[in-house]
Amino acid sequence: MKAIGIPADLYSHGADSLVDLDLACPVAGARDLLVRIEAVSVNPIDIKMRSARPHRDGQPRILGWDAAGTVVDVGPQTTLFAPGDRVFYAGSIVRPGCNAELHLVDERLAGAMPTSMSFAEAAALPVASLAGWEALFERMHISDDGSDAGKSLLVIGGAGGVGSVAIQLAKTVGQLHVIATASRLQSQAWCRHLGADLVVDHRGDLAAQLHASEIRAVDFILCLSDTDRYFSTMATLIKPHGHICCLVESMSPLPMNELRGKSVSFSWEGMFTRSLHATPDMIEQHRILNRVAELVDAGRLRSIVKECFAGVNATNLRQAHALVEAGNTIGKVVLET
Ligand SMILES: NC(=O)c1ccc[n+]([C@@H]2O[C@H](COP(=O)([O-])OP(=O)(O)OC[C@H]3O[C@@H](n4cnc5c(N)ncnc54)[C@H](OP(=O)(O)O)[C@@H]3O)[C@@H](O)[C@H]2O)c1
Repeated sequence: MKAIGIPADLYSHGADSLVDLDLACPVAGARDLLVRIEAVSVNPIDIKMRSARPHRDGQPRILGWDAAGTVVDVGPQTTLFAPGDRVFYAGSIVRPGCNAELHLVDERLAGAMPTSMSFAEAAALPVASLAGWEALFERMHISDDGSDAGKSLLVIGGAGGVGSVAIQLAKTVGQLHVIATASRLQSQAWCRHLGADLVVDHRGDLAAQLHASEIRAVDFILCLSDTDRYFSTMATLIKPHGHICCLVESMSPLPMNELRGKSVSFSWEGMFTRSLHATPDMIEQHRILNRVAELVDAGRLRSIVKECFAGVNATNLRQAHALVEAGNTIGKVVLET
């Protein structure tokens, strides 16, 4: 089968290390689905994995953890899907990625694709919606039945992939008052288009901008950017008994005592935790993606695709990596067969 990856003997860290490869077809085992890939999207994790020091196991490294495609075969213990089903998923960071013609994923990590979306639109959603859903409704325990309606959420980094879904989920499911940060006219307009009630600029003083809108503090903060840089600002802006959730690892120890006086809760969100540790509840990702698909098909969640390349090949993937690596993409970049 065709795949795009980094050859086993190559130690370049740049996007130019991605080349077209010809590999043996994988075989579905246990609860695996063998999926014919129709579209993939690129995330910051692809850039981090591409740049990481490779294990010298003699195997090419295949990246890609956002996929949409059609099931062509199933392992002997599968119960959730059958050949012909359309699925979308992020999969597992410890298995080969989806930048390939055929790909294996544990069925408990896959959802039934929205019927109203193209493969490209569906491939943009899994990582962003799993991270957004888990952060809002599992880590911060925001109610998904409207019980927290009217409470406030600040999303730092609103226009990126995760922010684009988190704003929408917080509005449509959580019924929250959503404040998003974005620094450019285009990214600010995008956040408003997705439903943000207020957009402030993370290049300026966040507290001053919130105060200008008569907001002294917020109930929840979702930080999708530099945790170290925003930590003290978040400690200032969070309400007593509030909750902060961060997705990006810190580079130095965090001053957690700044949260103590207001009894603020702090969580990390890692959407690969379930697959990495094969947690007993990893089937929750199947359920979350199915719920996301229902929201899409009910017209409550919009596509977040901003850039689509025709053709899943090394030339296009290198360009997509360059866009994501620049750190200022709006929505998602996808490649479609
Ligand atoms: N832990 C997890 O499970 C998990 C899952 C997914 C992603 N992540 C991580 O979360 C981060 C965000 O992911 P993503 O896919 O949303 O990224 P992304 O799409 O690459 O984010 C791009 C956005 O970041 C914004 N941005 C740039 N500099 C910023 C700053 N200093 N402060 C606030 N926003 C800034 C830009 O907005 P402007 O152009 O308006 O400045 C741009 O729209 C990445 O580090 C990623 O690795 C973690």
